[in-house]
Amino acid sequence: MAGEDRVILNAKNIIKKYPSFTLDIDDFSLDGDVYFLLGPNGAGKTTLLRILSGLERVYKGEVHFKGKEIINGRKPFNGGIYPELSYFPSAPILWNESVKENVSYGLKLRKLPGHIINEKVIEISDKLQISHLLKKSARELSSGENQIVALARMLVLEPELLFLDEPTANLDVKKTVLLEETLLEYQKSKNAAIFWATHNLFQAKRLAEFIFFIWDGRIIEKGEVEVFFKRPRTTELKAFLQGKFY
Ligand SMILES: Nc1ncnc2c1ncn2[C@@H]1O[C@H](COP(=O)(O)OP(=O)(O)O)[C@@H](O)[C@H]1O
Ligand SMILES: [Mg+2]
Repeated sequence: MAGEDRVILNAKNIIKKYPSFTLDIDDFSLDGDVYFLLGPNGAGKTTLLRILSGLERVYKGEVHFKGKEIINGRKPFNGGIYPELSYFPSAPILWNESVKENVSYGLKLRKLPGHIINEKVIEISDKLQISHLLKKSARELSSGENQIVALARMLVLEPELLFLDEPTANLDVKKTVLLEETLLEYQKSKNAAIFWATHNLFQAKRLAEFIFFIWDGRIIEKGEVEVFFKRPRTTELKAFLQGKFY
């Protein structure tokens, strides 16, 4: 809950090197709030989110999730095995099955009883207005429907920490609003944490509680949303807010 002293994720000195790009992130912590990672294309948003979700190796660094070490630069890669953490991309891939199979898949893996699975699938489908799609094959969906079904597939598993990587990039306004409202409501009701990457400063302004500004692989500015937009300090953020480097 906002205001509660509850660190969910803590990252220390993360370094990742590509031939022509280095991500270098100092300490930061997330608790049960809505955080935005704002920055232009190529700043390193996807790389950072994938690292924190356990999908990408690091050169150096440590990440703790609820006090447990989940990433350590010296240890072998462990990737993507933490059910409390979810990574959601801008173009998620559904399995070549029915929508219902897609949404219930993770619950089946968790070996929940059939009637509980059904209840959960019905509840999330109502909320996301996809009940009429449940019998369809995932291949028949529009890209917007695909995105919302993937959102249902993720939320039905009730993750505590959600890494959202430009999740509305391919959505129209109506579906963008549906996704945004659903996620904010979910975050509040579950006391979850959201770490949401975007290059869209209007979306960050609209939804964020706290913003990290990433620029060329480094977080160069951060703050509560009001202060962040009112009093930018760096020339890079000032320029970005004026619509340059978009
Ligand atoms: N697998 C990779 N191999 C080499 N370079 C990569 C790879 N993935 C990303 N990069 C580079 O890292 C930089 C940051 O990319 P990315 O994290 O996708 O930025 P963003 O999500 O902010 O647009 C870019 O310069 C990109 O070309
Ligand atoms: Mg990206």
